[in-house]
Amino acid sequence: MSHALFSSYDLAGLSLNNRVVMAPMTRCRAAEGDVPTPLMAEYYAQRAGAGLIVSEGVPVSPTGRGYLWTPGIYTAEQVAGWRTVADAVHAKGGRLFVQLWHVGRISHRSLQPGDQSPVGPSDAVAEGAVCFAIDDAGHPGNVATSPPKALDQAGIAAVREAFVAAARNALEAGIDGVEIHGANGYLFDQFLNSAVNDRGDAYGGSVENRCRLLLETVDAVSKAIGAARVGVRISPNGRFNAMPEDPEMEATFLHLAAELGRRGVAYLHINDQLTFGLPPIPEGLIAKLRAAFGGAVIVCGGYDGERARAAIDGGLADLVAFGVPFIANPDLPARLENGWPLNEANRDTFYGGGAAGYTDYPVYTE
Ligand code: PHB
Repeated sequence: MSHALFSSYDLAGLSLNNRVVMAPMTRCRAAEGDVPTPLMAEYYAQRAGAGLIVSEGVPVSPTGRGYLWTPGIYTAEQVAGWRTVADAVHAKGGRLFVQLWHVGRISHRSLQPGDQSPVGPSDAVAEGAVCFAIDDAGHPGNVATSPPKALDQAGIAAVREAFVAAARNALEAGIDGVEIHGANGYLFDQFLNSAVNDRGDAYGGSVENRCRLLLETVDAVSKAIGAARVGVRISPNGRFNAMPEDPEMEATFLHLAAELGRRGVAYLHINDQLTFGLPPIPEGLIAKLRAAFGGAVIVCGGYDGERARAAIDGGLADLVAFGVPFIANPDLPARLENGWPLNEANRDTFYGGGAAGYTDYPVYTE
């Protein structure tokens, strides 16, 4: 008998072939205009054996960009590119959510429209954080993030509207749903963290206020495309992108999880940054978040086949996401199910470039 990890799962009415999720991963291979390419369609189609693919982070607007060559979903050309990706994944029997992304303060003026400052909850700089932009010498590379400007009311409304428009575009492209990126030190995570968000308005201060922007966005997107097509990703205790330790972390995420549960979103995706070499999610918090949320939970961060099976058996999670192993193993679910050996991923080809280290990893043969 095959393990439940490898059997079908009903995700808010969407039937998945298994509970193995491909985690969102930046690969920086979009074409001019941040348009998804046929090579990207091939890459995702190769990995359609996942029960669910969550795409790389997809900026919802020009101000949401923090890296060169990340595919957007706010122009007609980008939407057409995503349609080829969705069609290719569906032709292989897979399911695809796009991860909708606004980087907030993790950006550089050279990536912003009119060379303006990136936006954030406050004017506080992400000290030590880098993004991928054009450096002073005019070359692409890692550069320090530029000082942000705090979003005003009009800017906050524009963020919500950009997520709604992007979600509509995703469905127009034939994509199965969207994951709102609330993790890893990007815009929503910056608002959630009491040590970053020092706003004095309705979007800062109390737990409720710090969760407001994300929840309002979830509400607006759910109204547009249905809560069953919306997932949310979080990274409690995250330090990536210069996020400071937050004394209100647990209270904030438990409130958020309960509110997301009330809204009936498709899933809560919990990313543990321990694989980034950063502090793990505190022992026991995932179980508390799952209880507060009450719906489908995806866990991510350093899982192998054995730990994934145990996470399902132990009731920690409903689905398990894999990142780096999916880069190097297009047929990862079959390898995990059969105990076949895994290819090693080459970090030199994670970001940018073409087919090398992207679509040329082999499937297992005996
Ligand atoms: C990255 O590009 O390194 C990256 C992007 C989005 C994340 C995490 C890492 O959520």
